[in-house]
Amino acid sequence: MTIRKLLRMGHPLLHEPSYPVQEFNTAVLDALIEDMKDTMIEAEGAGIAAPQIGVLWQVVMFEIDDNPRYPNEESIDFTVLINPEIRPVSDKMSAGWEACLSVPGMRGLVPRFKSVRYCGFDQKGDKIEREVDGFHARVVQHECDHLLGILYPQRIVDMKDFGFSDELADKVGC
Ligand code: NI
Repeated sequence: MTIRKLLRMGHPLLHEPSYPVQEFNTAVLDALIEDMKDTMIEAEGAGIAAPQIGVLWQVVMFEIDDNPRYPNEESIDFTVLINPEIRPVSDKMSAGWEACLSVPGMRGLVPRFKSVRYCGFDQKGDKIEREVDGFHARVVQHECDHLLGILYPQRIVDMKDFGFSDELADKVGC
């Protein structure tokens, strides 16, 4: 079990695009996934992307299962998603509050596509294809943004909707 150091906003690697994984079922990839999982669980995150621990590979994972940081959201099965591609199902957007392990203590209101189709590969290299909406769609878009070198504050429309979680508690409603 290895809990890795989480890079925080401002670290240059968080703003770099990541490279596709070339080979599955390698010791290096499996160890990366293991470390990401340990780090995400320790930090009580809903998701994590490889660049957040300093690795520029297209690997993300997410899970919502009674997460204390997201008490009102539907659950999402634990998913490892490699070399993802996302397409919006329609141009409908919705605004929702987001947080990020690389931006600790903060929240922001971010517009995202309401429903998306995504595909990619799981840890073993098997194809994943899903159409999702709501919070699931939001989480996938947030995590895949990390692979483009984009953090959620860059997507906030009105910077009044960005701040410390405790100060925003009334507005966020949790
Ligand atoms: Ni994040």
